[in-house]
Amino acid sequence: MPLALEQIRRMRGGAQSHLMRCADDGYYVVKFRNNPQGARILANELLGTRLAARLGLPAPETAVVEVREDLIEYTDDLVIELGRGRSRCQAGLQFGSRYPGPPRETVVYDFLPDEQLRDVANLADFRGMFVFDKWTCNTNGRQAIFFRPAGESQYRTQMIDQGFCFNACEWSFPDGALRGIYARHLVYEGVRGIDSFEPWLTRLETRMDESVIGEIAGGIPPEWYGDDSDALDQMLQQLSRRRSIIRGLIVQAWKSSAQPFSNWT
Ligand SMILES: Nc1ncnc2c1ncn2[C@@H]1O[C@H](COP(=O)(O)OP(=O)(O)OP(=O)(O)O)[C@@H](O)[C@H]1O
Ligand SMILES: [Mg+2]
Repeated sequence: MPLALEQIRRMRGGAQSHLMRCADDGYYVVKFRNNPQGARILANELLGTRLAARLGLPAPETAVVEVREDLIEYTDDLVIELGRGRSRCQAGLQFGSRYPGPPRETVVYDFLPDEQLRDVANLADFRGMFVFDKWTCNTNGRQAIFFRPAGESQYRTQMIDQGFCFNACEWSFPDGALRGIYARHLVYEGVRGIDSFEPWLTRLETRMDESVIGEIAGGIPPEWYGDDSDALDQMLQQLSRRRSIIRGLIVQAWKSSAQPFSNWT
């Protein structure tokens, strides 16, 4: 469990995360337990990001990061801005999403122009991530980062922000045709039919059973869900059962009036 040593800067976004340097020499984008979106967001991030990785998708490494009281005391910027006023970030165990390299050498983008986006080395992974977002009922649009690994000429993408999977703090699954889609539909230009969502779809159906889900969920600090293990178990059971309806949900997205998959005819 990496210990946070230094706050580098604030990140944009509703959860008011911070880039932090940790004792394992890694840099992590850290979301705090008392973030404005709620503590369960941290549980969703850890569970969602690790499930995505298990499906073979490009997700950042994750860690439970320890942030101690003294670091918060000595860092003026470690505060949560509220409607009126502010409160200090809470000490203890937080969620960390690993920055893909040393921040001074690794430029990370939230957005690429069309031409560069089409040329992303692992663009097909957006299809696999759609399988994942349907499964977990991500009630936010899909979010990704782009960076060039050292020595490579093409950008790669990583899938970030699983905080609104499982319907954020609700832990329910209100499915909708376009839920979880990436706003830039050009990433789906390679989709020709349901087989374009392989190997992820079959992998989900056949391998991501209750024991795999339970094993990953076991790594969530209970204080991130208020020690409510009944609520967690119930959500995990639903998650496992839902695997059988994902094919149907993808077809429903294809048929929706927004036509996200223009080459699936
Ligand atoms: N692993 C990572 N590596 C590099 N940058 C990251 C990583 N995770 C998040 N970021 C950056 O931090 C920003 C905020 O992250 P994220 O979207 O997860 O937070 P959020 O507060 O939930 O945002 P939102 O308002 O979209 O819900 C992202 O826009 C991205 O630029
Ligand atoms: Mg976000």
